[in-house]
Formats: sequence, C-alpha cells, structure tokens
Amino acid sequence: MTLAGKHILLGVTGGIAAYKSAILVRHLCNEGAEVQVVLSKGAAQFVTPVTLQALSGHPVRDDLWDREAEAAMGHIELARWADLILVAPATAHCMANLAQGAAPDLLTTLCLASDAPVLLAPAMNQAMWRDAATQRNAATLAADGKRLIGPDEGEQACGDVGPGRMAEPESLLNAVKAAFKSRHPANPRLAGLNVLVTAGPTREALDPVRFLSNHSSGKQGYAIAKAAADAGARVTLVSGPCGLPAPDNVERIEVTSALEMFEAVQARAAEQALVVGVAAVADYRPAAQAPQKIKKARAVDDDAGPPSLTLVENPDIIASVAELPNAPVVVGFAAETENALSNARHKRHRKGLDAIVVNDVSNPKIGFNSDHNAATLIWADGEVELSYQSKAALAASLIQHLADLFFRPASEMPNARPKLRATPLSSVATSSGHS
Ligand code: CTP
Repeated sequence: MTLAGKHILLGVTGGIAAYKSAILVRHLCNEGAEVQVVLSKGAAQFVTPVTLQALSGHPVRDDLWDREAEAAMGHIELARWADLILVAPATAHCMANLAQGAAPDLLTTLCLASDAPVLLAPAMNQAMWRDAATQRNAATLAADGKRLIGPDEGEQACGDVGPGRMAEPESLLNAVKAAFKSRHPANPRLAGLNVLVTAGPTREALDPVRFLSNHSSGKQGYAIAKAAADAGARVTLVSGPCGLPAPDNVERIEVTSALEMFEAVQARAAEQALVVGVAAVADYRPAAQAPQKIKKARAVDDDAGPPSLTLVENPDIIASVAELPNAPVVVGFAAETENALSNARHKRHRKGLDAIVVNDVSNPKIGFNSDHNAATLIWADGEVELSYQSKAALAASLIQHLADLFFRPASEMPNARPKLRATPLSSVATSSGHS
C-alpha cells in the first residue's frame, strides 16, 4: 500500500465528473490513504455526502459555517491535517477562485490555509476550458505551484468533443502517488547520516503534582526532525512532553526532565553526525523533589509565610555534546526577547556551537505555539536570514543550509570554506523564536 498513513483531502466541486470521485475515494483508501472529502455546494447536486462518507469512513464537510465543526476551528484543523489536497473535479469557477486567492467556501479556504501540495483535475465543457480566462487561470495556478492533471480530450457529457474531461480516477491515483514520491528528494549530503534533534519543553518536578516548565510547543523541533528525515537522514528525536505525534521515519525518545534529556542525548551523541538542540531546556531544577505533595504552609502552621524554592543548575545538553572528543556538528537555538543577534552570537561562542538559530520570541507572530517562524542562522563565518514562513518550510530551509555548510564533500570545497552567500553581519535583521 503505497499511500499508507497519508492524509488526503479530496475536494469535489460541481461538475458531472463528480460521480467519479466516489471511485477515486475507493482507489485512495485501497492504497492505505486516509481520505476526508469536502464538497462544494455545486458538487452536492451531483453526488451525495452519504455516498462519500460511507466510502471514506469520515464525515463529509461542505460548509465553512458549520457551527459545530468551526467551534474547534475545523477548517484550520483540516488544512493542517492534509498531506495533500486533490480537487477532482475542479470546475472553471473553482480554478478562478484559487487563481485569485479568493476563499468564498470551505474548499477554497482550505486550499489557501494549507501548506500541503494542491493537485487539480480540471473538468468542464471544452469551450469553457479553451476560454482565455480559464487558460489564464490555469497558467497562474501552475505558476503558483499547483499541479494540474488533465483535462483529457474526448466525448463530453454535453455532447461536445474536445479537451475538458476529467482525468480518469486511475490517472489521478498515479499522480497522487507521484506527488508523494517527488516531494522529498533525499539530500545526498545528509542521506544515511545520523541526526539527533531535541525538542519541546522539559518539566522539572517540585513534587508529584507540580513542575517548573515553559511555553515551548515542540513544533519547530518536530518540523526539523521531519525535514531531516525527509532529507534521508536517520533521525532520533529526543522530546520533552508536548503532545505532538512523532513524524514518520523518526525514532522518538520521550523524556520529561532536563536530566533525562541530557542522559538520552549523551548516550547517543557519539554516533551522530549532527545534533540540533531545539528543546527549551529548563536551566534550573528544584534542588529537591518532595516525595509527597507539598501542603500549603498555612494549612500546617497559621504563622507560616510562603515557602522558598532552592534551585540547582541543569547540565547544558548541547554544550556537553560540543565538548566531546570528535564531536558531531552541533547547532543550537536561541529564543531571545532582546538584543537577539548579539546575544545569540555570544551564546554560540560560549556553548562551542558550530551554528545557532536565533529568533525573537517577543514577536507574537512567531512566538511559542505559532505555526510560523522567522530566524537568523549564525555560524562562524556568516549569517543568513530565514524569512517569515511556516515552521515546516523554515525547517526544510535550515536543513538545506546545514547540509551545504557542514556536509559539503571536501572535493566541492577547494578553499575549505563554505561558499554559502553570507549576509553581512550589519545588514541582518533582528528577526526571530524556538517554539
Ligand atoms: N540548551 C541545552 N541545555 C540547557 C539549556 C539550553 O541544550 N540546559 C540548548 C537549547 O536547546 C538551545 C540552546 O541551548 O539550543 C540555547 O538555549 P537558551 O535557553 O536560549 O540558552 P541558555 O543557555 O539557557 O541561555 P539564556 O537562558 O541565558 O538565554
């Protein structure tokens, strides 16, 4: 089953070819994909939600204003859920909306809100397809990175003959499979190397029910683990508690405290080529963990004031890796709220890191829990800005930079210096958040 575990959102818009979407759902499910169907208002005239619901095993959605689903921001959930969006059939009207970035209904909103690749199977009368406006929209969509499959030529439901028939479900299935294959070409510089990523917060227990922690969501670290796995590396993700699912092809080791994270990383550091510390590790932990729940002081003694807390320092996980003999390439993250670049430059130096990624968590657009980020990658000889983008896209770009900087074969580096275009230190913007 070549699509096992893949999340496919099938959008069906209003054309006679909509009846074929039922067969398409069957094919996709038979290949192991999980399919959710979204119908446009027009599509519901051609095919019933009940049919598609029965075939996909999921409720079919057709309304952006579904109060129950939207109570939990259902359209954003769906947009994030999708690994790929296939719109089949895609009418001229749907293509026109997408070409303009218009989002008048649930399906077009999902296409805008999702980072997943979008495949379109146009289906319409041949004159509509040939119309200059449709051709313009098709060209715009292709230039925007949408993939158009078909239309096929032949006899049409209206009696005309010409281009405009929806590609057959079997061809669409093949296009979906090909899209997954071509999506993540392995990076030859990282393929087969061991990469370890730390992610998420740590929790430092005070007693059996309380702990000290921070707002890290783990999203950026998980995205980096996924990007490294997509590049072909063998990835270990040492994760604090953050409730995210483990990315495909990544070995996840779940830990709670900084000391547990330290031990998990130390045990594996020697066999790594690259260690990326994205975790928001607590710098301190309570000096002692009470074996029983600490009672409110005044419940025990009427005159007691608030208790005081003694903290002790946790080991620095990535600095300890950087100190090892034959250390791997070590990259840190710096979440800063002021003087981001200069703090990060010092931090890189102080911890003996090969590079550091700095972001400014005071910016609410990119702070903890956001799905977007902007950062600056700093290494010994240069800096490069990673502009505002989704955490997934930033992760892929970071992995590409690290591969070019630190894993370029010697034969490609006659001057033994990385050739990446370095932004002059003075012109790098103070953007930034590890979350
Ligand atoms: N880090 C680590 N172990 C620690 C603390 C931090 O491995 N005990 C790593 C983080 O994963 C991150 C980098 O060090 O990659 C920088 O983390 P940050 O919290 O910004 O640095 P600190 O050393 O704690 O500096 P400060 O809190 O003073 O800014």
